[in-house]
Amino acid sequence: MIVTLKTILGIADAKKTAVGAFNVTELEGIQAVLGAAEKLGQPVILQFAPVHEEYIKLETMGPIMVMMAENATVPVCVHLDHCGDFDMINRALEMGFSSVMYDGSMLPFEENVANTRAAVEIASKYGASVEAEIGAMNSEDGSAADDCYTEPDEAEKFVGLTGIDALACSFGTVHGLYKAEPKLDFPRIKEIYDKIGIPIVMHGGSGVSDEDFKKCIANGVRKINYYTYRAKVGGEYVKKKCMEIEGPVFFHDITCWAREVMMEDIEHAMKVFSGISGEKI
Ligand code: 13P
Repeated sequence: MIVTLKTILGIADAKKTAVGAFNVTELEGIQAVLGAAEKLGQPVILQFAPVHEEYIKLETMGPIMVMMAENATVPVCVHLDHCGDFDMINRALEMGFSSVMYDGSMLPFEENVANTRAAVEIASKYGASVEAEIGAMNSEDGSAADDCYTEPDEAEKFVGLTGIDALACSFGTVHGLYKAEPKLDFPRIKEIYDKIGIPIVMHGGSGVSDEDFKKCIANGVRKINYYTYRAKVGGEYVKKKCMEIEGPVFFHDITCWAREVMMEDIEHAMKVFSGISGEKI
């Protein structure tokens, strides 16, 4: 069943856990995410990022995500990740997405506030939630520059002015592959969480250790975006299998191998995020 981001993060907040938000770019990704969530009986966020339109278009992926989320036996939020384009936000909501992220983090504060408020107004017509961002995620050299970390006072002001449901914050994670071990600012997460009173979103979950995930969750992170490492796990396994196999390799086998290992990787992440050892919702 489809639920909003507000609902799903409410479940996590009450239990002081986090919900995994997994980007998908292919059918096997959706199957791996929903398969893991149903196996563990956990709520999950299925998300699509506009940057992935180079692999598949929202118009193709979105309706499949919505249909499969509707048929799932666990609560699923279908979310549009990192979007600064109002036309795309409207199209996703029209397709049935239950949440969108308006990303104005590169804009001046006042402009980010104004655009985020507009996104909240649009989403509210669909009964959908909104995530927004203050601070910036760095990914170019695989390390986070601390001058883009989210300022707690600014975050508090931003949340008060916009009425969003969750805030993406910068505290040391980066998108993509890490070149150096991430050094996360845990006290900053706590300070922001205490000030804003809504769930904090961690972007760049790939490459963060299980111990650091747990510390982030203990300090107020309730949504964890995770993509690069599950895509890498699938790709590396296919590479290994192709090298081992003698004779022809069939594409249908490739998709099945990848789906299986990606589901295992997602299951592990979900167990860490939800703190479960078999307990179901
Ligand atoms: P990773 O690809 O680094 O896991 O980050 C995903 C993300 O933050 C999507 O918004």
